[in-house]
Amino acid sequence: MTKTSKQLRVFSGVQPTGNLTLGNYIGALSQWVTHQADNETIFCVVDLHTLTIPDSISPQERRQKIREVVGLYLACGIDPKKSVIFVQSHMKQHTELAWLLTCVTPLGWMERMTQFKSKSHKQESIGSGLLMYPVLQAADILLYETDLVPVGEDQKQHIEIACDIAQRFNHLFGETFRLPKAVIPKSGARIMGFDDPTAKMSKSIAQVKSGHAVGLLDDEKAIKKTIMSAVTDSKQEFSLEDASPGVLNLLTIYEVLTKTAREDAVNRFNGKGYGHLKKDVFEAVMEVVAPIQQRYLQYSAEPGFIEDVVKEGAESITPLADKVMRSALQATGMG
Ligand code: TYM
Repeated sequence: MTKTSKQLRVFSGVQPTGNLTLGNYIGALSQWVTHQADNETIFCVVDLHTLTIPDSISPQERRQKIREVVGLYLACGIDPKKSVIFVQSHMKQHTELAWLLTCVTPLGWMERMTQFKSKSHKQESIGSGLLMYPVLQAADILLYETDLVPVGEDQKQHIEIACDIAQRFNHLFGETFRLPKAVIPKSGARIMGFDDPTAKMSKSIAQVKSGHAVGLLDDEKAIKKTIMSAVTDSKQEFSLEDASPGVLNLLTIYEVLTKTAREDAVNRFNGKGYGHLKKDVFEAVMEVVAPIQQRYLQYSAEPGFIEDVVKEGAESITPLADKVMRSALQATGMG
């Protein structure tokens, strides 16, 4: 892979755990698509991370979800001619680098991570992979000399810790890793659940609660039901001044999907009932989701297409991963 001086290298990924949601699209995938125009872009399906909660998904489901997420990357507009698309477990360098980084990461840093605290509370027995999750994520990013990591707001702490780990390694063994920066969208960085606007919209909650999220592959009827039943508040009409979190969430989704400025969106809905806002959000969602679903069906039905994309993706980035891995090993006196 060659990189001109103008381009920055962009890396990001999604865990193939549940059905990708509108939150994943707005916070991450839609941003990725725009980065393709000016930057060198690498997008990964981070399957190894799904093992950190071992019984959350069966091996058959995992295999199917990995393929589904690649299909959705393509359907959302990630173009294999412009971007590298690959599956994390196809590149052994991620786990190899994760070990080097584990050895320079203080345990206290991992124990303080918000996601570890919230996820470990929900588990009867906690695997050590869950604790070390951010180190594997740091390896994903550092392995490709990444400049920018476009993500939703929930990933900010993970990118910061990747920087801290890189700096610690560089301090101990000499300049080895480039320091990455998170790119978080100004609007839509944290889409909330339709059923509970105090909780982030999440693939895993959506698996157990209907009405929580719009899945990118949900049918039109289900999407309509979810949006029309979204929690708002007891007031009758829209007004920005005293808008509740549920109303603001709907407004944000409308603004982002239709690329409307806040002022114009507010003027559109001011003084009107919430039914009007919900109907417009539903239409805006369908406008985006329907073509994604059409393309997804095409890509996933084409025999061998998805498999070829990720095979070529992994092949094309192997030289870079090998180079960075070699310099990390050499810095420590190994390799
Ligand atoms: P994951 O799979 O939970 O989410 C994938 C991406 O979607 C964003 N996102 C959201 N954005 C806005 N509103 C929401 N409700 C919402 N829900 C999810 C996430 O911020 C993320 O950008 N740890 C990561 C995966 C990962 C990764 C990486 C990401 C592993 N290695 C390296 C970037 C770089 C995760 O679990 O994302």
